[in-house]
Amino acid sequence: MKIRVRGGDATSIATDVLIVPVAAGEEDGPALRALARRAGGAAFKRAVAAARFRGREGQANLLPLQGPRRQALALVGLGERARLDVDGWRRAAGHARHLAAAVSATRVVIAAGEALDESRLAAIVEGIQLADYRFGKYKSEGEAPPAIAELALVVTDPPPDAALASLWRSVDTTLAAVKLARDLVNEPATVKTPTYLASLAKQLAKEAGIEVEIWEPKRIAAEKLAGLQAVARGTNEEPRFIRLRYRSKSAKRKVALVGKGITFDSGGLSLKPAKSMETMKCDMAGGAAVLATMMAVGRLRPAVDVDAFIPVTENLPGGKAQKPGDVIRFRNGKTVEVLNTDAEGRLILADALTLAADAKPDAIIDLATLTGACMVALGTQVAGIFGNDQALVDRLRAIATDTGEPLWQLPLVADYKDDIKSAVADLKNIGGGHAGSITAALFLQEFVGQTPWVHLDIAGPAFLEKGAAYAPKGGTGFGVRTLVRYLTTLADEA
Ligand code: BES
Ligand code: MN
Ligand code: ZN
Repeated sequence: MKIRVRGGDATSIATDVLIVPVAAGEEDGPALRALARRAGGAAFKRAVAAARFRGREGQANLLPLQGPRRQALALVGLGERARLDVDGWRRAAGHARHLAAAVSATRVVIAAGEALDESRLAAIVEGIQLADYRFGKYKSEGEAPPAIAELALVVTDPPPDAALASLWRSVDTTLAAVKLARDLVNEPATVKTPTYLASLAKQLAKEAGIEVEIWEPKRIAAEKLAGLQAVARGTNEEPRFIRLRYRSKSAKRKVALVGKGITFDSGGLSLKPAKSMETMKCDMAGGAAVLATMMAVGRLRPAVDVDAFIPVTENLPGGKAQKPGDVIRFRNGKTVEVLNTDAEGRLILADALTLAADAKPDAIIDLATLTGACMVALGTQVAGIFGNDQALVDRLRAIATDTGEPLWQLPLVADYKDDIKSAVADLKNIGGGHAGSITAALFLQEFVGQTPWVHLDIAGPAFLEKGAAYAPKGGTGFGVRTLVRYLTTLADEA
C-alpha cells in the first residue's frame, strides 16, 4: 500500500472512494461544507440527511452520489470530539476500510481536514491494515476485497517526508508482528504443535537477527521446569521451551518478556466442557504476542536488551496425565499441589517467571490467557493488569490506551494469598472460588521474587468470537502493539 500524507483539496484527488471522518455535532462543520460545495450542494446535503448521519462512533455511510471526480463518497463517525482519542482514529480507520471494501476500492482518500500528529497518522494506517486482516488459508474460495494500492491522508499540516518514512517503517514492522501473532493464534492446534512453534521461532529469529535457544525435553528436565513437565505428561506432543534474546550495544535496561504457550487447553483430566474448548487453540496467545514482539524488536533494534521466555505444550488428558492431588516441586524449591489440571497456565508460567527473574532484568512482563474469570470481569475489550511496581503498571496502561489495547488494573489482594495455601504443599494451583484472576496472579507473584513485574491477563481480548472495528473474529494479536511501543520508548529515554 502506497501512502501519501498531503494537504490541499481532497476532492481533486483521483480516487475510487473519498472518506470523510466527522465528529458528532460537526455534520455542518467546515469539512462537510467544503465537500458539499464541490459535490452537488443541495443534493449532497439531502444525501447526508437521508443517511441520518450523526457522526456517532462506528457510524459509517456510503452516500448515494459521486464526487467531482466520480469518486464514491462516504462518511465515518468519530464520536464526541471531547472523547476522541488516538484509538478513536484507529477505529474510524477500521470502519473506513470496510467502506472501501464495500465499493471494491483500490484507491482511497481519507479527508481528515484537520491537523493530525504522528501517533494519529500511524493509528489511521494501523486501523486500515488491521481491519484488512484475514485468516484465509483454509478457505477454498477467496472472499477478500481487492487490496488498497494507494492511500492518501489529507490533513492541514503534513509532516516532513523524513519523519513519515521512519514512522511508516515502525508501523509496518509492528503490523507485521500483529499479523504474525494473529496467524499463529488462528492456526489449528494440531498444526501449531510445540515442535512447530519452536522451529518457526528458530527460523524467524534467524531472519530478524536475534538469538534463539530451544530446550527439548532433556534440557527441560535438567533445568527442572517442573510445571512444563507436569502439564506435558498428558500429551504425546513433546513440549518445548523457547528462549529468545535481543541485545543492543547501547542498552541501559533489560526487560524480560514471558508468554503462556498452551497450544491447546482441553483442561487435562479436569476436562473442560465441549463448548469451552472450542476456542482453546487461543491459549498460546501470550506466547504468540511475545514471539511476534521479539521479531519486531529484531527489526527495529531499539537500545534495550530483551529476553523472552515461552513455555510451550498442549494440555491434554492422556494416560500419563498429571492428576488432581499430585504435588510438583519447582526449580526454586517451592511445592505446588495441583488440584485442578485446568489451572495449567500458572504452572508453566511459574517455571518461566523463575528463569526470567534469574536473568535479573529491570522488569518482567508476562502475557497469558490465564483465567476465564478475567473475561467475566472485563469482557473482550479490556485485559487485566496486575503488578508489584505501580510505575510500571501506570506506564503500560498509558501506552495501551494509545495503542488501543486497554488494560484495567486489578489488585493483588494480600489477604487472598490464604486461598492458594495447600494442606500438603506450599501452594495449591487454584483459589477459593472467588476472585479467580487475582488468586492466579498471586500465584504467579510467588515466582518473581522482588523483580519489578506486571502480569497481563489477556483471556478476554486475545480472541474474539465477534469482530470489532479493526479486528475480525479470531486471534487479535493483543499486546504486541503495547509491548513494541513500551520497548521502543524505553530505549529512546534511557
Ligand atoms: N486457558 C484458560 C483460561 C481461558 C478461559 C482463556 C477462557 C481464554 C478464554 C485457563 O487455563 C483455565 O482453564 N483457567 C481456569 C482456571 C480455574 C480452573 C482455576 C478457568 O478460568 O476456569
Ligand atoms: Mn486451563
Ligand atoms: Zn489455559
